[in-house]
Amino acid sequence: MIEKIKQILAEVPALSVENEAQLEELRLKYLSKKGLVNQLMADFRNVAADQKREVGMRINELKDALQNRFKDLKAQLATGEEDHSGLDLTRTPYPISLGTRHPLSIVTKEIIDIFSRLGFSLADGPEVEDDWHVFGSMNFADDHPARDMQDTFFIESHPDVILRTHTSSVQSRVMETTQPPIRVICPGRVYRNEAISARAHCFFHQVEGLYIDKDVSFTDLKQVLLTFAREMFGADTRIRLRPSYFPFTEPSAEMDISCNICGDKGCSFCKHTGWVEILGCGMVDPAVLEANGIDSSVYKGYAFGMGVERITNLKYQVKDLRMFSENDIRFLDQFMAAH
Ligand code: DAH
Repeated sequence: MIEKIKQILAEVPALSVENEAQLEELRLKYLSKKGLVNQLMADFRNVAADQKREVGMRINELKDALQNRFKDLKAQLATGEEDHSGLDLTRTPYPISLGTRHPLSIVTKEIIDIFSRLGFSLADGPEVEDDWHVFGSMNFADDHPARDMQDTFFIESHPDVILRTHTSSVQSRVMETTQPPIRVICPGRVYRNEAISARAHCFFHQVEGLYIDKDVSFTDLKQVLLTFAREMFGADTRIRLRPSYFPFTEPSAEMDISCNICGDKGCSFCKHTGWVEILGCGMVDPAVLEANGIDSSVYKGYAFGMGVERITNLKYQVKDLRMFSENDIRFLDQFMAAH
């Protein structure tokens, strides 16, 4: 019986009414002749002698609480004001949980920080681009396979409007408005028409770098990239450059770093080679300088472009690319300590 009384008592502060009729209902239910309090009083007869004292006290307590609440509610109805007496305004309404930075943002910021220390400033350009900035100005031949419908998202009604497939388009955007010296890095999202799987996505992120000045050499490029790799992955990191081909650079190379997951012993991430590719780079093709209004007989430049997801995978070993865009709190919370 004590439990039952306690339970009713606990409900009293929450009792509320909106009009006189409900107030009367409440009175009938609890305080009238046949109401709950009187029923309890009637049951009191059957309470064991040694419990009578406590039960009696509890019933009186409940009766007082109900009568007070009834009075308050009646007064409230009369003045039309809400009752805030039970409110603790100093209490936190719900536990405050701080958000985390997205792992791709953490890594992008780290890349930007490293290159800003090397004298690069930030530049950006639109994700919805035109064919000229993504391909034409970057020396892609008209029949280059990257222009193919397989790779590029086109807007059906506007064949010239595309989603940029790489951040190299920002190189062109910068060159057409700025004369050298140019030292920029351009982070951003890019799109490719790929089936989504653990290893590919239809959008991902790149950071592009562009350096143009009078005496720029491949050695400068190599030194900057080595410094970047060591700042990003640790002082023991080694790099290797393999000859490659990109339409906008000549010569072109791809850069590998020593696998920091297995410490070059060989693992599935580096396919047991001890090396992982992280970026493409090269000396800006004179044709690109000319197409973008820069005199190639005076200026030279280097450029590079890296995938942010790939670098993030190397740092945090994320196995499935889809995790980056699913907004799963269990995944994101793991980066709480990383920023
Ligand atoms: N745009 C290339 C890609 O998306 C990456 C790249 C390679 C950028 C070489 C560069 C570069 O600036 O010099 O695969």
